[in-house]
Amino acid sequence: MGGPGRRRSFLLLLQVLGVSLILLEVGSQKTSDCARWCPPKSTCVNATTCRCSPGFISSSGEMFTSRLESCDDINECGPSSAVSCGKFADCQNTEGSFYCTCIQGYELASQARTFRNESENTCQDVDECQLKPRICKSRGICTNTQGSYTCECPPGLELSPGDPNLCTDVNECTSGQNPCHNSTHCLNNIGGYECRCRPGWKPVPGSPNGPKNTVCEGTELRCHILETHTQNI
Ligand SMILES: *[C@@H]1O[C@H](CO)[C@@H](O)[C@H](O)[C@H]1NC(C)=O
Ligand SMILES: *[C@@H]1O[C@H](CO)[C@@H](O)[C@H](O)[C@H]1NC(C)=O
Ligand SMILES: *[C@@H]1O[C@H](CO)[C@@H](O)[C@H](O)[C@H]1NC(C)=O
Repeated sequence: MGGPGRRRSFLLLLQVLGVSLILLEVGSQKTSDCARWCPPKSTCVNATTCRCSPGFISSSGEMFTSRLESCDDINECGPSSAVSCGKFADCQNTEGSFYCTCIQGYELASQARTFRNESENTCQDVDECQLKPRICKSRGICTNTQGSYTCECPPGLELSPGDPNLCTDVNECTSGQNPCHNSTHCLNNIGGYECRCRPGWKPVPGSPNGPKNTVCEGTELRCHILETHTQNI
């Protein structure tokens, strides 16, 4: 009963050993068949051929046999590339890869920062006026535009030359417009100006004192002083 059983397990052992030996041989052949000179960003295919890693290419293609070759980054964003990020988007090349981003003023519907395939392009206009209600400073009125926004100033204010988000006062009195009648002094204020009678003058009958249309006349007292002054000379 023990004889045939032992014989069978011995045969089995031999079989296992044989398979192991074959496997070992294949394995060692594989490592010895690997071109050890394959440059960075490549792996060996066999003893004579290397293959560039994904995102890299040699001057003779993905696979090469010359030790003089190197694997260089593929510019997926370059003019000859098949990659397209789609509308309102930019392509950004990276070492071995690339990604797409929405251009300034646009964002993905998901608000994610990047995508890789035009089919994932959901770049849409950002409503800066809604997102940042105070983006237009000092009474500026925000208007959203495609990809941007503008600030408009109420009357009497104008956009600051140094900051397109900032409304600053227009000094109507020094702007060369001479908005007041010459019988009055121009007084600038934020968003406007006043026309006030010159010292010693008063509004002509029916004229207010202050608004743009104020017209003043010298008082009799002033005339009198002027007259006596003239006489004394
Ligand atoms: C190495 O692999 C390349 C590509 O598969 C093949 O063209 C070439 O014949 C192979 N060379 C050897 C020695 O096996
Ligand atoms: C981009 O997406 C389309 C559709 O989903 C797919 O057919 C294509 O292979 C993708 N391209 C890349 C480079 O992944
Ligand atoms: C003010 O303007 C009037 C005309 O509107 C002119 O006759 C007068 O000479 C001016 N006076 C001064 C001080 O400029």
